[in-house]
Amino acid sequence: MDLCGVDLERVPRHVALVMDGNGRWATRQGLKRTEGHAAGELALWDVVYGALDLGIEWITVYAFSTENWKRSADEVKYLMNFNERLLLERTEELNGLGVRIKFAGRRNWRVPKRVIRRQDESIELTKDNRRMTLTMAFNYGGRAEIIDAVKAMVADGVEVDKITEKRLRGYFYDPDMPDPDVMVRTSGEFRISNFLLWEIAYSELIFVDTLWPDFRREDLRDAVIEYQGRERRFGGVRDD
Ligand code: IPE
Ligand code: IPE
Ligand code: MG
Repeated sequence: MDLCGVDLERVPRHVALVMDGNGRWATRQGLKRTEGHAAGELALWDVVYGALDLGIEWITVYAFSTENWKRSADEVKYLMNFNERLLLERTEELNGLGVRIKFAGRRNWRVPKRVIRRQDESIELTKDNRRMTLTMAFNYGGRAEIIDAVKAMVADGVEVDKITEKRLRGYFYDPDMPDPDVMVRTSGEFRISNFLLWEIAYSELIFVDTLWPDFRREDLRDAVIEYQGRERRFGGVRDD
């Protein structure tokens, strides 16, 4: 079956998104950077609805990185409040849609307790939903995730010869999360910026010029079409 050029039999199971370009979007219109973040909210919900239409099971969005603490105190504060409000306003709606909300990132480092509490409420309310999982990578860093996993594994006393990729992966923020099939970054930057370093080992990477606040479900659909045109080999050879 086909939906606007998307082969619905081959929809990626997990799409990861680097929502980048909010600040530039705002600056270009003479607005404050924070107004770009506000405008990015619409893009996020439109993409969630688009992903539900396509039947994508997992969406992971980069909302705040471990490096984003370097920004001005005002912007950081804005982003903390913004993410808290977002959950407050949208959790019920997402729950009604059958979306499970999860978080990936450092919980016990710098993030205000009330934000963590709000996250926990969203997790709890939506934990039985299975239509789609929306993971917010918040206070997330790929290197931090690997370090946190190694620490937890060592603390568990895992013997050296029992260390495998699978075992280490089991200590990541969400052991159940499948690796992304595709990672999309907006705003024309060609870099990973510490997002899901381990998990994207074999993801298809798509970079688009659109700034995040202008990104819509049609852009997600185009990314899925591009993904479907790629040949994934995972280091093997296609034998046909
Ligand atoms: C992405 O947009 C959102 C976050 C990092 C929270 P930016 O704020 O990085 O926007 P640009 O890249 O400066 O335009
Ligand atoms: C990555 O974007 C982080 C998020 C989108 C949350 P950044 O804007 O922080 O990345 P750099 O600084 O351009 O690499
Ligand atoms: Mg940026």
